Amino acid sequence: MCGVFAISSSDIQNAGEKVIEGLKKLEYRGYDSWGVATSDTIIKQVGKISESTSHFPPDTKAIGHSRWATHGGVTKENSHPHKYKSVILVHNGIFENYLTEKERLLEKGEVFVSNTDSEVIAHLIQEQLDLSHNIKSAIQNVAQMIIGRFSIIVMVEGYNEIFVARRGSPLIIGRGKDQYAHTTFVASDIPAFLEYTNIVNYIDDDEMAIIHNDHVTFYDLDSGKEKEKRNIEVSWKEEIADKGEYNHFMIKEIFDQKQSLTAAINHTDQEIKNFISDLQSGNGVYMIACGTAHKVCIAAEYYFSYIAGRKINVVPASEMPAFERFINKKTILFAVSQSGETADILEVLEFGKKRGAKILSITNVESSSIARISDNHLSIHAGKEKAVASTKATTSQMALLLLLAYADNNRLNAGRLVLQDLASNVNDLLNPRYEKYIKSVAETLKDSNNIFIIGRNSLYPIALESAIKIMEVSYIHAQGFAAGEMKHGPIALIEKNSPCIVLGCDNETISNAIELKSRGAKIIGVASENHMIFDQWLKIPSAGTAISIASVLPIQILSYYLATLRGLDPDMPRNLAKSVTVK
Ligand code: AGP
Ligand code: GLU
Repeated sequence: MCGVFAISSSDIQNAGEKVIEGLKKLEYRGYDSWGVATSDTIIKQVGKISESTSHFPPDTKAIGHSRWATHGGVTKENSHPHKYKSVILVHNGIFENYLTEKERLLEKGEVFVSNTDSEVIAHLIQEQLDLSHNIKSAIQNVAQMIIGRFSIIVMVEGYNEIFVARRGSPLIIGRGKDQYAHTTFVASDIPAFLEYTNIVNYIDDDEMAIIHNDHVTFYDLDSGKEKEKRNIEVSWKEEIADKGEYNHFMIKEIFDQKQSLTAAINHTDQEIKNFISDLQSGNGVYMIACGTAHKVCIAAEYYFSYIAGRKINVVPASEMPAFERFINKKTILFAVSQSGETADILEVLEFGKKRGAKILSITNVESSSIARISDNHLSIHAGKEKAVASTKATTSQMALLLLLAYADNNRLNAGRLVLQDLASNVNDLLNPRYEKYIKSVAETLKDSNNIFIIGRNSLYPIALESAIKIMEVSYIHAQGFAAGEMKHGPIALIEKNSPCIVLGCDNETISNAIELKSRGAKIIGVASENHMIFDQWLKIPSAGTAISIASVLPIQILSYYLATLRGLDPDMPRNLAKSVTVK
């Protein structure tokens, strides 16, 4: 996953420190360890780069990495950059066949200091460089040897340039301007350099570039032929994520939902209709997503079924290989992703593109890889979501998908009314009194070992999403079930005081809740009306077809307080990253 960032400049004299600053803005991509190299100094550390106060000797070029370990534990040795003889490298991605090459190199007597796949790439580049004395062809040859995804940034002792190459993992070049006119930046993501420039070149798959100050030359990675690249001006302003009065980004972003639901549906009728016409143009729709966004897609499956009479196939992106045989020119692949960079999704879309499928997407990042590969894309306009746990992006995705379901049934205005109503009720609901009450409920649950959540209909995916939210920030085991499924097995786990969150208060769900209560469960109801069966009640506004969106909110606040009351940092939970760019 990780964030990579590099600077080549004749304007900047403290490139090492500047690379650290840029990497701090990419920390959402991985935060278990980090490292930065200038021409003659490498500093690596386990822990978050946001806590770094490291200094480097003056230098005009530097490369750096904020890691989310895939191969090799979280140790200083395994953190990047990796150096082998003259080659210094950072790598984002996975070198799937690294063991074969590593064994070969070990037999040659080479010594490795880490357990990573990435260090092997540094050895391979050195090997090729020793053979050809040509760094460009050395990198090209090594790229041929790698099965997997990578973006790499390389410095080589004795060379002034920085060398970069990409296949499958993001890499973007920032062209310095004004006081940084003789500077080039390279990063996994634009925020790393947005304070310096908004002029970018996207490096595509199987491309490489050689960079020296403001000189950048692009090449095809296979043929080595030079390529032209357009300078693109991105409209992003540097969005400074600021916690304001809040203690954490997660709770700030939960409260951002006072505005973000309205922004999510801020598309013209024509934009929505064009998107729907693309959706209708195919024969079979697959919605693909991961994690929370996947649960959002299951909710959308209900919206499209009930509101538009359309069957959507929802598949977690990582499970799509089983269904790829059904993808053809008539298939609509519809991706939903906050970051727009999720590797599992991109892999399916790239496959679909080759098969001629139409690609639609909803993301929160308009310049993301998923948005760019799409034939039609809508943004959810949620604003930067910094906490690892998705909150405002989740409800924004749901709102936009609900609107699309209405549009699919030629009732766009009716959809807008439902969602405007919801947005105004959410605005009233999210207040300090409500937050305080949910905190008091969290106090009673914070020492639980297990929490069960049930929901029926469009609240079933919310039960699944609630479990993700609780688990990822509080580390309490939580599991969501379709309400009617409890009695088919999981009810065996219920004992005196087992906390069960019941989403909804329709008759059938209440019957299921009574079955749980009869076995000693403590019932926490999430509904617009209180019910005598509820031991505790988390109120939501009555929201009609948008009930699934309204039901997410109290669970987000509950999860936040379960984390903070347990002394945990909800913004950066262990083992996770915001942007999951490895498979
Ligand atoms: C959300 O709370 C999770 N951290 C995670 O499941 C996330 O939804 C998933 O990784 C998908 O990310 P994306 O929306 O950026 O594609
Ligand atoms: N596979 C590499 C490692 O484990 C890079 C992981 C990443 O992209 O963060 O170090």
